[in-house]
Amino acid sequence: MSDLSSKTLWAGRYEVSAAEAVRRLNDSYPFDQRMYASDITCSIAYAGALSKAGIITEAERDAIASGLEQVRAEFENGTFQPAAGDEDIHTAVERRLTELIGAPAGKLHTGRSRNDQVATDTRHWQGQTIGRIITLTLDLQRALLAQAKLHTDTLMPGYTHLRAAQPVTAGHWFMSYFWMLTRDVSRWKATREATLISPLGSGALAGTPYPIDRQQLAEAMGFSRPTMNSLDGVSDRDFIAGFLYVASLMMTHLSRFAEDVILFSSGGFGFLKLDERYTTGSSLMPQKQNPDVLELTRGKTGRIAGHLSGLLNTLKGLPTGYNKDLQEDKEPLFDAADSLEILIPALIGTVETLTVIPEKMRAALDEGMLATDLADYLVGKGIPFREAHGLVGRAVRRSLETGVALSALSLEDYRALSPAFEADLYRVFDFAESVAKRAAFGGTSPDSVRMQIALAEEWLATNA
Ligand code: ARG
Repeated sequence: MSDLSSKTLWAGRYEVSAAEAVRRLNDSYPFDQRMYASDITCSIAYAGALSKAGIITEAERDAIASGLEQVRAEFENGTFQPAAGDEDIHTAVERRLTELIGAPAGKLHTGRSRNDQVATDTRHWQGQTIGRIITLTLDLQRALLAQAKLHTDTLMPGYTHLRAAQPVTAGHWFMSYFWMLTRDVSRWKATREATLISPLGSGALAGTPYPIDRQQLAEAMGFSRPTMNSLDGVSDRDFIAGFLYVASLMMTHLSRFAEDVILFSSGGFGFLKLDERYTTGSSLMPQKQNPDVLELTRGKTGRIAGHLSGLLNTLKGLPTGYNKDLQEDKEPLFDAADSLEILIPALIGTVETLTVIPEKMRAALDEGMLATDLADYLVGKGIPFREAHGLVGRAVRRSLETGVALSALSLEDYRALSPAFEADLYRVFDFAESVAKRAAFGGTSPDSVRMQIALAEEWLATNA
């Protein structure tokens, strides 16, 4: 037994062991050891299924379960000692179990392959990880919502093409990111559902000859059901591609937010002030306060999207059944998960401590942003919008040529363009009024933003 335990899992067929260079290439233990808890939980459930099927006794099942709990404890208190032959986490756990309980350990792998085992463990790990990412995302949404509440009435320039377009409220801007994240949460939940389907009981590729109740086994591990086809179950990693897609898309949202905040907190804008705790200084320029958290958000987005692209390329040419290429699924998955778990808390802090500077936002509003309102004014006087657009365009041009602001052009100037202009046209030059008029559902008016906030709170209550 101790002799076998120091060898590879396939020592029976082999005369010599693998070259050192091959071991270094082939071993996944250095990175897949983090799945120890999933491996152990799923193995305990599998031992239960084996005993229900009459393949091992209840006493053997109990010995296996308590041995595995001991291995789990060793990982948790940092005393687990990997051995030279521990190719991956599955090998390491079984080797240690054998040392601890002897013979019954050798029965655990009956009917099971590392192919169905690794697919199951990875799904289990991913399902739990998604749960934590959803919790973090909800916290980030709460931080955005809190800022939106403070700024339902705060006016700021809205942009298209990064050119001042129309006034909006800062609350509306914050809420735009809240709603993006609601869709990310939905995508995370759908991906978790697709993840928690169990390949265990698929064997290496063909299924198991033992009467394993795969539905019961799936449920014992917290999965909803077993996979439908053993070949599919052991060889697809679409659930990981799904994870990386949702991660990439969510990061794309966060990256856009980061870019906005970097821009709005920069010297030229000054709309936002970042808290010192969420910025870093420069080693050379004493005056600098750099938005590193936001830049890393933007930077990691490229990295995670790269992982998605990398995995798709790993998968696309694989022939049927398990192939070792599939071992390349884990590092991108773990790296994307780590990136999110380390990043989102820093973003939450950044948003919570962000100061909005309403005066700066207000000062950046210019009358040109009310040109559309002036056209709408003419529409109110019965002029078709297309024509109104042209008339106001000429007023804007006159203003640019003469250097006289739109609101300072004389009534005669306006009436020369169209008799539809009357003295009340000057009422259009009110930013708060412009914003208040955008009161239809989903618009930027303070009332609409308050409505969004109420709906957002409802959403949080049902989705948290
Ligand atoms: N470490 C492997 C992986 O991550 C486990 C499965 C290996 N199976 C095999 N037949 N070599 O994919």
